[in-house]
Amino acid sequence: MSLNARTKYSGFAMLLHWLIAVLVIAQWLIAVTAEDAPTREEGGAIMANHFALGVVIFVVVAVRLVWRLVSPPPPPVSGHAPWEKTIARIVHLLFYALLLVMPIAGWIALSSYGEPISVFGLFQLPALPVPQNPALGEQIFELHGASGIALLVLAAFHGLAALKHTLIDKDATLCRMLPFGTIKG
Ligand code: HEM
Ligand code: HEM
Repeated sequence: MSLNARTKYSGFAMLLHWLIAVLVIAQWLIAVTAEDAPTREEGGAIMANHFALGVVIFVVVAVRLVWRLVSPPPPPVSGHAPWEKTIARIVHLLFYALLLVMPIAGWIALSSYGEPISVFGLFQLPALPVPQNPALGEQIFELHGASGIALLVLAAFHGLAALKHTLIDKDATLCRMLPFGTIKG
């Protein structure tokens, strides 16, 4: 096994990481665009894409987690301080927890209006057998919106941390998630 193979994430893990990052940003942009739509109908039509993409993100994250078992991440960077390793582990855990819980909460909330999720017109996820309770659905969506903001704050912190390692510490942390760049030591 080459040194790179032990210090970098696998190519498929990198692909899934960057795909999830792009999809999460797109998911946020769709939600904000829907909020700013001139009419409720237009906002609803835009939001249907958010619901469908939420299902896609859930599946991609599930694939990522299965792949993580098949091909575990490389060991933490030896030059990182213990507190950095701990914070990185907590942030990664929070990402996966939010990315799995948020779409499920969205599905439950939509179900409490009795609404199914149409996944880009290809197939439908039926409403879950939960009591019809739009007031509860609205509360869950409010929590979901707040979790969405928390996820974005975490993503900004996480991206800045990667840049700090590259620009200030001048270590190869970022190269672990990129197909180029050699990692020494
Ligand atoms: C991992 C998947 C998902 C992510 C990352 C995500 C993320 C977000 C974000 C960032 C916001 C905007 C928060 C704001 O600017 O106030 C939002 C709002 C919203 N999302 Fe999602 N979402 C996901 C899945 C879903 C699903 C599956 C549904 C429904 C079935 C859904 C329904 C909604 C609704 C209704 C809002 C508006 C909430 C409000 O502020 O009242 N989302 N989501
Ligand atoms: C919404 C955006 C993002 C999400 C949800 C996200 C999520 C994650 C997760 C969950 C991991 C842990 C991977 C694992 O061990 O399974 C990770 C690792 C990593 N991410 Fe991100 N990421 C995002 C954006 C970014 C950005 C913008 C950068 C760089 C500027 C970045 C750089 C990295 C690096 C370098 C690692 C490896 C860290 C290490 O080796 O300890 N990520 N990311």
